[in-house]
Amino acid sequence: MDLTMESTTLVLVKPDGVQKGIIGDIISRFERRGLKIIALKMLHLSRERAAIHYEEHQGKPFFDGLVDFITSGPIVAMVVKGNQAIKVVRTMMGTTNPVDALPGTIRGDYALTIGHNVIHGSDSELSAIREIKIYFDEKEINRLD
Ligand code: PPS
Repeated sequence: MDLTMESTTLVLVKPDGVQKGIIGDIISRFERRGLKIIALKMLHLSRERAAIHYEEHQGKPFFDGLVDFITSGPIVAMVVKGNQAIKVVRTMMGTTNPVDALPGTIRGDYALTIGHNVIHGSDSELSAIREIKIYFDEKEINRLD
């Protein structure tokens, strides 16, 4: 049985990750693993776009702080593609709360608090489709292998 299943996911290097200078390391980790970067940009999110990205968390106690943080400086957005990319990227990121993240994962190596957890990755196929559209036009994504 062939369990190969190509998927694409949205990854953000959050403002703290950009500030720490780990954009290159994060991209290298994905490339070393065999994942492909098929779109990439640096941008400064507006509060409006941040609220759209995190709309499912509106009303939660951490929502305002999360929007403050993600809009506090430049971020890097990328579309990452490969076999089971959504799952593989989430495993490489480590747990949302870096306190529980294993050494060797991105958060396990670079983060200590949930409010500053350096990276975002889509958590499902539906989220990936929705989130990629928030950051990229179709023509900005390299669909050719
Ligand atoms: S939930 O309520 O379980 O669905 O939330 P969760 O999936 O754990 O987290 C959703 C995003 O909110 C961020 N988050 C926080 N930011 C700041 N402070 C606190 N306390 C906090 N709790 C959760 C978390 O990092 C998730 O953002 P992304 O970008 O998806 O990692």
